[in-house]
Order: sequence, then C-alpha cells, then structure tokens
Amino acid sequence: MKTYFLQVQKIVRETEDTASLHFWHPISEQLRYKAGQFLTVLVPGSDGKKVRRSYSMSSSPATDSSVAITVKRVKGGLVSNYLCDQVHAGDFLEVIEPMGRFTYEPEQPHDGSLVMIGAGSGITPLFSILKTVLKTTDRKILLIYGNRDENSIIFKDALQQLESAYAGRLNVVYILSRPSGYWVGHHGRIHQANGIWFMKENGVDFRKDYFYMCGPEAMMDEMHKIYKLFEVPEVHIFYERFNAPVQDEEELMEKLPDLKKQTVTVQYDGETHVFDVEPHQTILEAALELDIDLPYSCQAGMCTACLGKCLEGKVKMDEDEGLTEKEIAEGYVLTCVSRPMSEGVVIEID
Ligand SMILES: Cc1cc2nc3c(=O)[nH]c(=O)nc-3n(C[C@H](O)[C@H](O)[C@H](O)COP(=O)(O)OP(=O)(O)OC[C@H]3O[C@@H](n4cnc5c(N)ncnc54)[C@H](O)[C@@H]3O)c2cc1C
Ligand code: FES
Repeated sequence: MKTYFLQVQKIVRETEDTASLHFWHPISEQLRYKAGQFLTVLVPGSDGKKVRRSYSMSSSPATDSSVAITVKRVKGGLVSNYLCDQVHAGDFLEVIEPMGRFTYEPEQPHDGSLVMIGAGSGITPLFSILKTVLKTTDRKILLIYGNRDENSIIFKDALQQLESAYAGRLNVVYILSRPSGYWVGHHGRIHQANGIWFMKENGVDFRKDYFYMCGPEAMMDEMHKIYKLFEVPEVHIFYERFNAPVQDEEELMEKLPDLKKQTVTVQYDGETHVFDVEPHQTILEAALELDIDLPYSCQAGMCTACLGKCLEGKVKMDEDEGLTEKEIAEGYVLTCVSRPMSEGVVIEID
C-alpha cells in the first residue's frame, strides 16, 4: 500500500462538530481517486503505534482542485477529535492511498437517475459522487438527507447552491429528527415508509434508477427493505459502511456455534506468521494485538486492503459485500472481518 504525506491547505468548519480538511496534492504527482473513495489517515496513538481511520473524500475529482476529507467528531473518539482539534493549515498528515469500491464509475452504462440516501457524516462520499455526476453527466439526482437539526446539516449552503445551479436535475429532501420550532420541512428519521413516500413523490423508477446510500446501519436496513419490496436489481444498489457491524459475543456464538480458539497461519511478505485467534477476534484483530504487521486500512470490510486467499481450512466472514461473488468463490477473504471456523486455516496475502 502506498502512503503519502499530504499538507493541509485549509480547514473549513462545516458545522459545530464537523470539519473539512483540504489538502494540497503531493508535490511529485496528482493524487488520483474516484468519487466515493476514502483515504486512511495514520496518526500517532498513545502507545507510539500509529492508529488508522478511514475518511471518505468529500471533494470530487471532476470539480475540486484540492482533495478534502470531512470529519465528524465522535464523542470520546481518538482520531476524529484529533483531526478536528489538533491539526492546522500547513501540517502534514500521513495517509494511505485512496481506496474503496463505493464509487461512481463514469464508464458504466447508466441511463437511470441516481437516488442517494444519506444521514450525518454519511453525506461525505455521496457529496463527492453527487458533484461528479452533476458535472460530468446529464443525469438527475434525488438526495434524501437526514440530520439532527438545521445546524447539523453538513454542506447545507453548497447543496443549496448546487440545487439552483442544476435546477431540475438535483432535488434535495431534508429530514430532521430534532428540528427547531421554525422548521417547516420533514420531521423524523429516514425509514421504510417515508423512504417509499419520498421516492414515489419524486418519480423514482425502481427498475431503472441507481441507489447510493451511506449512513447508520438502521437506516440502510430500512432502505434494503424498500429495494427488496420493489425488486431493485442488486447491481443498482451501492452502499458504504463507516463501521464494521458490531458483533455481540453472545450473538456471535449463537450464530456460529462452532466458533472456538484456532491457530491460524498467515503468509505475507515472505514471512509466515502462526498465531492464535480467540473466538471474539477477527484474524486481523488477533494479528494486530500481537504486533504482526499485516496490511489493512478501513477495518470494516470495505476497502480490500486486507485481502488474502484462504489456501486451507474454513473461514467465515462477518460481511462479504466488500468482495465480488467471483472473489468469494475463488477463496478470497478479508481478514478484518474473517473468523477461522476450522483447524489449520492458512491464508496467503499478496
Ligand atoms: C470506509 C470508511 C469511510 C469513513 N468515512 C468517514 C467520513 O467521511 N467522515 C467521518 O466522520 N467518519 C468516517 N468514517 C468513520 C471513521 O473512520 C472513524 O471510525 C470515526 O471518525 C471514529 O473514529 P475515532 O478514532 O474518533 O473514534 P474511536 O476512538 O475509534 O471510537 C471511540 C468510541 O466511539 C464509538 N464510535 C466509533 N465510530 C463511531 C461512529 N461513527 N458513531 C458513533 N460512535 C462511534 C466507538 O465504538 C468507541 O466507543 C469512515 C469509516 C470507514 C470505514
Ligand atoms: S481493512 Fe479494509 S476491508 Fe479489511
């Protein structure tokens, strides 16, 4: 994995708890990325080890000259607070090259409109895709965007400007869970019933349109119910998770009764590592706890930086949507969401 040191060009406070960090491109080259991809930032942790967190780029390769990430503070969060408070214009940040498959591919034969569903910081990759699509195509976009209140709407002014500049092509529907008394728009959270209503009201064609979403797990589950109900083709559905699904240990044992401590072998970079993986750990988590240097980035099954091939034994992934069906059939696994389910698991990482 290639890393860069990017210099912060400016910091824009988007809302009370969200900031965008704009970077200069590296001096030697233009940072190439696709709309919707993310950078992984490496910052020093308290024990001297570098901590990694991924942040989607809110900039568009088609419209923005600098690269930007947009970070929302998480209460007690190590890296989000560091980036919002400690980093200033002129500082350098180490990042892993752009990654991710939640992208807009201009070469895909798309003729439907785009329906985007986002909430909170989930707007970040959607904003990048939205700007790219408006600039490079003549497709229409409906954005259904959930937030807490008027002041927590990230990119509110920019979205309003885009709505006027692309009148008739971009329509943003805002929904607030705790608005002020002056709010005359939609109240509540995005769920199946109001999602269907917003989509029908805006003429969504469930067979033809393309659906992009990023936000809390519960919102995405509700949207999947809509896609199922209206038989949206799977290849028209794109989504990004910001967190690996939380695995409750008890639930995990119920789901995977055969799960137990196993010794796993990982071949990487000319070395062979043999180590134990406890039932509550993924293979990557166990390796990192033992300071074994394996490749990774998002730790959420989204970027494929931890991709390996299972040569022997049985492995179960908590999530496999980061891989294609072909890759899964060929034995590829993502070690950040994989658990050994038999003795003698051997994984080879390129
Ligand atoms: C592919 C990808 C793209 C991402 N893009 C963005 C982005 O564009 N903007 C952005 O702000 N974040 C984004 N994230 C999330 C980001 O990587 C971090 O997880 C987030 O900033 C929290 O990190 P932290 O170090 O501050 O918190 P941590 O120190 O990791 O966590 C502190 C506590 O907060 C909880 N927590 C962690 N994340 C969240 C959360 N999102 N909501 C509520 N509680 C949480 C943890 O369980 C823990 O209890 C993305 C994640 C992935 C995997
Ligand atoms: S680290 Fe990103 S998919 Fe595993």
